[in-house]
Amino acid sequence: MRFLITGATGLVGRELVKLCSEQHIEVHFLSTSKDKLDSIQGAKGFYWNPKEEEIDIDCFAGVSDIINLAGAPIAKRWSKSYKKKIVSSRIQSLKTLMKGLKSSGNTSISNFVSASAIGIYPDSPSTFYTEEDLEIGEGFAAEVVELWEAEAAKFKDIVSQLAIIRIGLVLSERGGALVEMARPVKLYAGAAFGSGTQWQSWIHIRDLSRMIHYICKNRLEGIFNGVAPNPVTQTKLLKEVAKILSRPLFLPNIPKSIIRLILGEMSSIVLSSQRVSSKKIESKGFDFEYQNICRALEHIYASDQ
Ligand SMILES: NC(=O)c1ccc[n+]([C@@H]2O[C@H](COP(=O)([O-])OP(=O)(O)OC[C@H]3O[C@@H](n4cnc5c(N)ncnc54)[C@H](OP(=O)(O)O)[C@@H]3O)[C@@H](O)[C@H]2O)c1
Repeated sequence: MRFLITGATGLVGRELVKLCSEQHIEVHFLSTSKDKLDSIQGAKGFYWNPKEEEIDIDCFAGVSDIINLAGAPIAKRWSKSYKKKIVSSRIQSLKTLMKGLKSSGNTSISNFVSASAIGIYPDSPSTFYTEEDLEIGEGFAAEVVELWEAEAAKFKDIVSQLAIIRIGLVLSERGGALVEMARPVKLYAGAAFGSGTQWQSWIHIRDLSRMIHYICKNRLEGIFNGVAPNPVTQTKLLKEVAKILSRPLFLPNIPKSIIRLILGEMSSIVLSSQRVSSKKIESKGFDFEYQNICRALEHIYASDQ
């Protein structure tokens, strides 16, 4: 097996490369930054510039599986121009991969696995979303994901198996949302946003990379939610973070209106509620190492010491 990974230098990508090395899977990766081509030990970097549909087609040599994780970060203020970048970075990456793959002569890709996000589901305080739910949420986050998945779906014609993983809130000690949420808690200033009752469908980063590997190894196709079996409310998540960091959580919640004023449209990331089911991937035999939030956080903060 040889994986080609885009976005390998990011949070999820680095964990996946680590798992590949444990599983003796060779890794090629694509980076938009020439400085990062030698930055991952044991993996071979290739340059691409999706904006210009430029790609080093040597990256496809001997590749059996492609994992697409590339995309500009969404947790930055959503100005008109940055919104364009969030969308175009994802669409152009897929278009460039497609063009490169076609001209590379590699016709034996088994699996194409593309990242997506649970932001495609509507904001709801109670619905337990499965991959069968077809209703798409309102707003920019859902819009991006819908376009992203439609572009990824085009790979169906040229690879044996196409899988799309709708990723939830990835928990890691190295970055992402948890680090941002834990920072004020560490400073005795933690507080939930809005009602705090919004559902946070999280996944431990190790389980997410195990899931990607599992999908490739077992040649699974279709859409899979990349979330752990037990989503929690934001208040519960913050309480557990505070408990593990031995900090009190005493401040009142920050009202929605203030969050909207500070974050603008991007506030939907922290205020919207998506309770998402992991049943489908479990029904395919995948076992989560981290099923509940306490164990996941214990592991994350134990490895932080
Ligand atoms: N982390 C989460 O909680 C979460 C939740 C839902 C969905 N996701 C999705 O899962 C994927 C991986 O997440 P992550 O947290 O690992 O993201 P990340 O840390 O931001 O890494 C994404 C990678 O994408 C590449 N990239 C950045 N700008 C790009 C551009 N304009 N064009 C092409 N590539 C670009 C970068 O690699 P180079 O600099 O090497 O090119 C970067 O390392 C992302 O697409 C993200 O939207 C993540």
